[in-house]
Amino acid sequence: MRIVVIGREGQVARALAERAAKHGAKAVLLGRPQLDLADPSGIEDILRDTGGDVIVNAAAYTAVDQAETEPELAEAINGIGAGVIAGVAAAMRVPVIHISTDYVFDGSLDRPYREDDVVNPLGAYGASKLLGEQAVTEAAEDHAILRTAWIYSPFGKNFVKTMLRLARDRDEIGVVADQFGSPTSALDLADGIYAVARNLLDKPQDRTLRGIFHMAAPDFASWAELATEIFAVSARLGGPSAKVRPLSTAEYPTSAKRPANSRLDGTKLATIHGISLPSWRASLVPCLERLIRESGAA
Ligand SMILES: NC(=O)c1ccc[n+]([C@@H]2O[C@H](COP(=O)([O-])OP(=O)(O)OC[C@H]3O[C@@H](n4cnc5c(N)ncnc54)[C@H](OP(=O)(O)O)[C@@H]3O)[C@@H](O)[C@H]2O)c1
Repeated sequence: MRIVVIGREGQVARALAERAAKHGAKAVLLGRPQLDLADPSGIEDILRDTGGDVIVNAAAYTAVDQAETEPELAEAINGIGAGVIAGVAAAMRVPVIHISTDYVFDGSLDRPYREDDVVNPLGAYGASKLLGEQAVTEAAEDHAILRTAWIYSPFGKNFVKTMLRLARDRDEIGVVADQFGSPTSALDLADGIYAVARNLLDKPQDRTLRGIFHMAAPDFASWAELATEIFAVSARLGGPSAKVRPLSTAEYPTSAKRPANSRLDGTKLATIHGISLPSWRASLVPCLERLIRESGAA
């Protein structure tokens, strides 16, 4: 399988590159400046020149708070750009896998979100990602939209790396304790993406495999619980550690509002695609081992 990945330096893109061999695949990563989602003009040529069996769009404008001040750019990249990628995939007659987010929901439900629950993004980032889902759905029949959440990995910027960095200088860190989600390893997600790609390629006529799916770790946490576990494991491994002081969302104001509940229900993915991701608690350990071993990178 030759998989073309948009988003060269991102967490998910790098995880897809790292896990390619395990799945007998070759991953070709494309990113700025050669391919810019905000400038659709050259996208078709570069994708056609690259070729491939499946296209994965793992690139996005992901600065959740900054998106509040530049919503048009977020829309151009996450909405219009995502649709362009899907349109080219359709023209090339290859499936497209698009990565979306828990932030399309407002978090008001009292259970994990299912795919057909009502969307109502609270901020500009979530709104731009929702536009992307709609654009992909319109542009390409042969698509899988995978909503994921709270991604961590040894790569790029993420909560796990931020906690380790802060713990080097501080004894106590205030962390939001009233937002709940599905912390998801980018490497687990990459394995899941390869499995979806395989299913799409093996069964090109199977419409049930197409559409929106939730792909995230099956167990949930608040940011404070996640931080507490990070420091417990890190301390065991000889890495940095700090005391976690639970905060309410009101005590930690941010430009963008975030859903209090962004837990994702993975039942549809398990039933239809036969895919479940491992627990975040299990996958956190190798991630921390690697970050601590490569310390300085965190
Ligand atoms: N991180 C999370 O917690 C989270 C949660 C739910 C869903 N998601 C979704 O998961 C996907 C992957 O997220 P991630 O954490 O891997 O993101 P990331 O680490 O922030 O990486 C985003 C990538 O997108 C690229 N990009 C941004 N604007 C671009 C543009 N105009 N043209 C081409 N590439 C562009 C960036 O390229 P540069 O290196 O050039 O900046 C970067 O490589 C995204 O769709 C995101 O919305 C993420």
